[in-house]
Amino acid sequence: MHTTVAVIGGGPAGLLLSRLLHRAGVDCVLLERRSRAYVEQRQRAGILEQSTVDALREADAAERLDREGLVHEGIELRWNGRAHRIDLPSLTDGRRVRVYAQTEVVKDLVALQLADGAAPHFEAEVRGIEGADGTRPSVHYTHQGQEKTLTCDYVVGCDGYHGVARTAVPRSAQRTFERVYPYSWLGVTADVPPSCDELVYAHSPHGFALHSMRSREVSRLYLQVPNGTDPADWPDDRVWDELDTRFALDGWKLARGPITAKSVLPMRSSVTEPLRHGRLFLAGDAAHIVPPTGAKGLNLAASDVTVLARALIRRLRTGNTDLLDAYSDTCLRRVWRAEHFSSFMTTALHTDPDQGEFGTRLQISQLDRIADSPHASTELALNYAGLSIP
Ligand code: FAD
Ligand code: DHB
Repeated sequence: MHTTVAVIGGGPAGLLLSRLLHRAGVDCVLLERRSRAYVEQRQRAGILEQSTVDALREADAAERLDREGLVHEGIELRWNGRAHRIDLPSLTDGRRVRVYAQTEVVKDLVALQLADGAAPHFEAEVRGIEGADGTRPSVHYTHQGQEKTLTCDYVVGCDGYHGVARTAVPRSAQRTFERVYPYSWLGVTADVPPSCDELVYAHSPHGFALHSMRSREVSRLYLQVPNGTDPADWPDDRVWDELDTRFALDGWKLARGPITAKSVLPMRSSVTEPLRHGRLFLAGDAAHIVPPTGAKGLNLAASDVTVLARALIRRLRTGNTDLLDAYSDTCLRRVWRAEHFSSFMTTALHTDPDQGEFGTRLQISQLDRIADSPHASTELALNYAGLSIP
């Protein structure tokens, strides 16, 4: 089988890319190793920046998002007995974010591609890529127990942090920059209306906590926990008691409800450069990981593939390779900004076991500064609401 663009991975990056290419009339095949049911229920991110919403609209994939997504105009920071609201539109010239789960973005994109006769190939696991530096790369994969090969003009690795695409680039042609954090998140989903109208990011002597949501009926909450934590050591009452302690604020009460999901997420920052090797391109988590504190992972994936779709379409329609040649540099500027912001939010709000009381005082001073200085709160708001896609 031959296609113009082989896309590896059916997460948000691969699905949005194949949708954008398909709508532009570009022949493309998406290979995803998991089943449709698995990718549609994999619980991950929940916040979409304005530019991600715009990218989904451009792909004609925002109809349900526009109907059901909750528009949020602010976030709250809590620390040291203080609370401060960051008003996004007034500090960013009108930018807002949406609460709309990654599971729903994935479901919408899969359904649209199926309806358009461009269904992703599920349970098709890519084993290797050959010839990325030639003119006709081959993608080797296994489907229903059979070994198959797909040849293509271009191949895009949207296969996440543990994917195979990045490993197809010779080590001498690639550099990875990485930081691992000395803590993880315990994430829980609970059938209880959120106790707040907007997200709350809390710094506390007991560690970080985040109150998010999936809808007006479902809350999503996160607690900083030590690396290696077993969710089984966190029965529901312990989760709620710890959340109560970390969010404590006079006059505020956290509503409890049945917890329906519980998992531990390690935290890492990582960037692989460049995002291109010959005819192989990397996008989304296959190329970079952010710690989740700034809610940037999914948004970066969407911006990478928006830039890449434009570049591939231009190359295929006009023969001009200028945007493809610039792809890696164009995306890396935005990636490093998001890496810096995510790392800043993470280290400002979490307790490093080695930070000592001095480190805690520095964090409190930083958070006071954000609340008291319009310049500092504007900088946070601009980064949180997200930059435009270049
Ligand atoms: P992915 O969503 O990882 O998709 C990659 C796809 O490639 C997967 O479907 C995988 O099955 C497939 N694949 C892998 N290898 C192969 C292969 N060999 N052959 C075929 N297919 C393959 N971000 C936030 O902003 N907030 C959060 O709360 C948050 N929580 C997260 C929790 C977890 C557990 C993880 C892992 C990530 C979280 N993120 C969060 C990050 C965010 O979800 C990602 O940035 C986003 O999913 C990136 O999309 P992607 O399409 O690049 O990669
Ligand atoms: C969610 C995750 C984040 O990392 C974040 O900063 C905000 C919200 C979420 O899963 O809802």
